[in-house]
Amino acid sequence: MKTLLININSLVTVSANGAATKTGASMRDVGEIVDGAVLFDERILWIGPSSESSEYHGDDVEVVDCKGKTVMPGFVDSHTHMVFAGSRSDEFARRLAGESYSDIAAEGGGILTTMRAVREADLEALINVGDALLTSALEHGSTTIEIKSGYGLDVESELRLLDAIGQLQRGHEARVIGTFMGAHAVPPEYKTEPERYVNLVINEMLPKVKEQGVASFCDVFTDAGFFTIEQSERILLAAREHGLRLKVHADEIALIGASHMAARLGCISADHLEHSTRDEIRALRGAGVVCTLLPGTAYTLRLPYPDAREMISQGAIVALATDCNPGSCFSENMQTILSLACINMNMSIEEAIVASTLHGAAALGLAEHLGSIEVGKFADIVVYDVPSYKNIVYHFGVNHVWGAWVGGNEM
Ligand code: NIG
Ligand code: FE
Repeated sequence: MKTLLININSLVTVSANGAATKTGASMRDVGEIVDGAVLFDERILWIGPSSESSEYHGDDVEVVDCKGKTVMPGFVDSHTHMVFAGSRSDEFARRLAGESYSDIAAEGGGILTTMRAVREADLEALINVGDALLTSALEHGSTTIEIKSGYGLDVESELRLLDAIGQLQRGHEARVIGTFMGAHAVPPEYKTEPERYVNLVINEMLPKVKEQGVASFCDVFTDAGFFTIEQSERILLAAREHGLRLKVHADEIALIGASHMAARLGCISADHLEHSTRDEIRALRGAGVVCTLLPGTAYTLRLPYPDAREMISQGAIVALATDCNPGSCFSENMQTILSLACINMNMSIEEAIVASTLHGAAALGLAEHLGSIEVGKFADIVVYDVPSYKNIVYHFGVNHVWGAWVGGNEM
């Protein structure tokens, strides 16, 4: 069965003519076709003006009239921590009353609060949390979602989180990509001997993570109060030996050299970058590391926003993601993330769209197959009930999604 969307007011292809990225000034071009049409089965078969679509009608083609609507590639949310247990609404309220994220973390709250809840949670409970958030993310336009472990912080709990992610990968309609993040925080039992925890991650977790086969990436929280450059580098190099690709949470709390490490190691992405300066950006750009910005986290934690303008003018590959997690950003809604990016990081609507589709795919090494509406790519397509893509950012705080297909299957 094929699907033909016709009379699309605003068809946003994000075409890069087969390339994996659109940097610098080309981020301002979203390849819009006004009054467009698109034909697909599992993959995109044809794109063009609606006036030329009648030759594609047929018995095996379902025709959908998209008059007055906008069609875009599904968002690729390349950075989330959507599988967890418990709630941190009380800590959120404490932060509103003046306590800082780092103070709460240093007292054994923050990530460790979620760790305690995860250690108590069984597999089914973890799957249920992830399933509900994935469904909501898909309903808000995300068709591919990366999910990290990192709230178990012992061998068994980290593997259980990844097991839940693997089950969601197989069972959920959205595409799910798994990341191992055993080095998200040092658990309390290793508080005085963090090196022993690093050894546990390297010698016990990584081989089992590899054997389990769910994770494609390894991520580390390289920041003040979490993992040092030396510890992070040891973990990431070991992860690479196990065939995982590398990501880093960098420059969120302080500048300790995490971006430079990401560049040196050739990480696929460096994420956060709230405190990155020109110098860090130059290193990331030079090494082709995707700069994944998480404006929902800067918003929630009242951090400075990353310098997206400097990144784009230097020609860095800028991506946007939610960071959806119970602590620093509890939102799975990429439409909101685009609004935050445009209003608070001075990105144009077009730049935000490229960053949240094609460059999200690039941050997962999937831009060859996902992230734009181009012939041959997977048909991950979202229809919005607005006459122009601009309205998705302009008319904010509501969900504009009208329909979606993942790999040609209607959601
Ligand atoms: O990306 N920065 C580190 N990790 C998460 C926060 C996790 C949490 O607070 O639970 C983040 O912001
Ligand atoms: Fe994160």
